[in-house]
Amino acid sequence: MANVYNWQLGRAMTYPFAPGLLTHQFGAVFNINRCIGCQTCTMACKSTWTFSKGQELMWWNNVESKPFGGYPHFWDSKLLSLLGPQPGWTGTPTASAPFGQYTGRTIFEAAPTDAAALGYLPDDLEWISPNIYEDTTSGSPTQTGGIWDGASLPEHKIFFFYLQRICNHCTYPACVAACPRKAIYKREEDGVVLIDQKRCRGYRKCVEACPYKKPMFRPTTGTSEKCIGCYPRLEEGATTRCISACVGKIRLFGWVDDPQSPIHYLVKQEQVALPLYPQFGTEPNVYYIPPRWVPLSYLHQMFGPGVEAALEKYRNPSWELLGVLQLFGATQTILASYEVTATHAIGYDEAGNEAIRVAIEDELVVRPEQHLNIT
Ligand code: SF4
Ligand code: SF4
Ligand code: SF4
Ligand code: F3S
Repeated sequence: MANVYNWQLGRAMTYPFAPGLLTHQFGAVFNINRCIGCQTCTMACKSTWTFSKGQELMWWNNVESKPFGGYPHFWDSKLLSLLGPQPGWTGTPTASAPFGQYTGRTIFEAAPTDAAALGYLPDDLEWISPNIYEDTTSGSPTQTGGIWDGASLPEHKIFFFYLQRICNHCTYPACVAACPRKAIYKREEDGVVLIDQKRCRGYRKCVEACPYKKPMFRPTTGTSEKCIGCYPRLEEGATTRCISACVGKIRLFGWVDDPQSPIHYLVKQEQVALPLYPQFGTEPNVYYIPPRWVPLSYLHQMFGPGVEAALEKYRNPSWELLGVLQLFGATQTILASYEVTATHAIGYDEAGNEAIRVAIEDELVVRPEQHLNIT
């Protein structure tokens, strides 16, 4: 049992595993506002990694329609119910606790005595129909009682949004802590969490413990598998398949812990991108720019207390934020650092070479008078 500091909770917590030191931590920001639900990311992952026998129900990347959709079905509301109502964050934000202190219990602190974390094992039927309730909205405008009450523009009384999900390559992974075979490990060079297929015996404690339900059992091998963070691409300086294939350019990859990285800027400095269910306590490393139109009470439960400030920053972006937003989906090269000038956003690779240059504002072209198509 280790005592670790979780910056998303703004406090120390118990974690049933001794975490190692990392050189880099895998990180990504997904801008929910831009996603069109096309599932290109989903198919990019599937056609690369999970097209074989026994992997038919395995979607390492999935995009679900909230509030009802989920893969596996109702994964988040089931765990929230198990955890029960918890007090939220209190206290004054500081640099090391930007949201204050979380006073509730994490899945590690609420674990039954015989388990590493609070969790559940979905049954086989819960993994079918990964895009169930696609585009289904939250309810009728005449209905009273519920999350849409009190919503007013810019929030919508009726809403849905797309939630893009991959493994969060958590700083304190529940899957790692739960495996009795010690078959899961976190890579020192990039923080990617992998299941060693030779050690795994299919105990599925990882599936039970992961609050995001991202390890998946494969019946043909009797082992569990999960998103591998496209580590062969990372080793070549390229972003993951799901990130590079994104049609909506909603995704940006980078190292969370490196102060030069655009991900560090979005998460730690500008705080416009927030962790998914930080109260679970695994310190997930995929961050989301929350959707502007969704009732705040719903967003608070999903992304914690930083929602209002993040939305305010996104609605009235600084020039630097506008610039960094242009770097999303602009290149497959991992951007180690960036620069925002008066006209352009420029991204640099690990060696400091310019990898991409994007204009922040499109040039305004005025048609000459003889070409005006009005009389
Ligand atoms: Fe493990 Fe789940 Fe975290 Fe991925 S999201 S590292 S599978 S606990
Ligand atoms: Fe799939 Fe790679 Fe994306 Fe993981 S990072 S979901 S393995 S494409
Ligand atoms: Fe959304 Fe991009 Fe995936 Fe399309 S490819 S569903 S825009 S995250
Ligand atoms: Fe361990 Fe999960 Fe395999 S608990 S043994 S990695 S199925």
